[in-house]
Amino acid sequence: MTDSWDTIADWYAELMRAGSALNDFNRDVLLDHLPDALSDHHVLDLGCGKGLITRAVAARGAAVMGIDPSPRLIEHARGAGTAGPGTVIYAVDDICVLGTVADNSVDWVTAGLSLNHVPDIGAALTAVRRVLTARGSLTFSIPHPCFEAPYATWTQATEGAVRRVVGDYLAEGFWRSDNPQAVRRAGNQHRTLSTYLTALVRHGFALSAVTEPAPTAQVSAQQPQRAGLPPFLVIRARRT
Ligand SMILES: C[S@@+](CC[C@H](N)C(=O)[O-])C[C@H]1O[C@@H](n2cnc3c(N)ncnc32)[C@H](O)[C@@H]1O
Repeated sequence: MTDSWDTIADWYAELMRAGSALNDFNRDVLLDHLPDALSDHHVLDLGCGKGLITRAVAARGAAVMGIDPSPRLIEHARGAGTAGPGTVIYAVDDICVLGTVADNSVDWVTAGLSLNHVPDIGAALTAVRRVLTARGSLTFSIPHPCFEAPYATWTQATEGAVRRVVGDYLAEGFWRSDNPQAVRRAGNQHRTLSTYLTALVRHGFALSAVTEPAPTAQVSAQQPQRAGLPPFLVIRARRT
């Protein structure tokens, strides 16, 4: 059977339940780009998975909606409850469609490690722009495309350090890991940095911030080889 997010949903939910320093780190660096207090704000969380980011946004007081195309992951998210004081609802939907979200209804859109799964970034940004209010912003993280390019591996260098080996940065498009324990067995859409930035500009967004956060001590303790590289690229862009 070919893996998809829905077929690995139970495995992924268990990974999240057991605790992943890398996913917690991703949530925190994404939320660094949002106000601390979000009451009276409507937030849409794209590719919410089990709701890790959705619940953290609700904890800041927002009315948040999490969407994901995997019905099984949405079941897991609903089962995980709500942090409050904000409110949470979930829907099965696709970033490129957002059929469950009204035009001009959302102040903030968050997308943690999900835009790197959509085949058509233009369709995704068009849908996001449609649902944002005139002063709204999109904040998203993706695996850093320069270091997490297709089939990137780790190798033991002669001086003893473990180094990242990247050979296919320019190979844009779909790829899937053949490691049965890797999240990426569900597939990824690789794009270069310039493709992401150009798509934002072409689809009516202006850059507000770009960060490449250094791994926390917790991430480096779980995966020491990551200490010198930013695992994620985080971008905040406002609707123009
Ligand atoms: C790495 S998980 C991240 C989950 C969550 N944002 C988090 O940080 O815990 C990627 C998520 O993107 C979702 N996804 C994949 N394709 C999508 C699409 N076209 N529209 C919305 N979400 C999508 C997957 O189902 C999965 O839940």
